[in-house]
Amino acid sequence: MTTILLIRVSPRTASFSRLIATEIAERLLHAHPGADLIDRDLAKEPPPHPDAAFYDAILSRSDAPSPALDCSEQMIAELEQADVVVIGTPMNNFTVPSTLKAWLDHVVRIRRTFVSTAEGKKGLLRDRPVIVAMASGGYVNDTPLGQPDFLTPYLRAILGCIGLNQVEFLRLEGLARGPEAVERALTQARATIDRAAWSRRPAVAADKV
Ligand SMILES: Cc1cc2nc3c(=O)[nH]c(=O)nc-3n(C[C@H](O)[C@H](O)[C@H](O)COP(=O)(O)O)c2cc1C
Repeated sequence: MTTILLIRVSPRTASFSRLIATEIAERLLHAHPGADLIDRDLAKEPPPHPDAAFYDAILSRSDAPSPALDCSEQMIAELEQADVVVIGTPMNNFTVPSTLKAWLDHVVRIRRTFVSTAEGKKGLLRDRPVIVAMASGGYVNDTPLGQPDFLTPYLRAILGCIGLNQVEFLRLEGLARGPEAVERALTQARATIDRAAWSRRPAVAADKV
């Protein structure tokens, strides 16, 4: 049974990242009939920012369960269940919105989802695909109108730290530049979804036919 974890970040009802992330999840559900969907809406239920109790629980080096880590445990359990993760997020001030950063602070946890070794940090989660639909009002650094993009390298690095190395980005750019730019961004994103191997039903092995 396939489990899809859908994480949506934007608080806007007319959000483009929500729209495309939802379409990606629908395509995955179509490709994997009977799949389970875990809907983690960070705008409706923002994870708390780390407080003193959370810091103490992390820094205590104790493996005893702590109520301060309940939210962290729940978010990690959802990630562990997922075979594929879909994230729909805006770019805010060149990087991830603070609600997504708070979620990351709960799931990227020393001795739980990664360990620190002499060779660097090692992820403890099983690798699985992560598809990120990222919306920005402007364009990022590969165009003349570009702006710095700390979102994609950051998400790649931090998800890699916990063992998730198959991160794919669908960029919805120039969304503040009028209806034509919006239409272009949506058309490009949908064409990428159509071409993606993950949007098709896996071939049935010959011996199962
Ligand atoms: C607080 C804030 C910061 C933003 N920072 C950026 C930015 O750094 N670069 C950019 O291109 N757009 C920026 N935007 C615009 C959003 O990325 C854009 O409106 C996007 O479409 C929002 O995502 P959504 O359509 O999924 O709601 C920002 C918007 C807000 C509200």
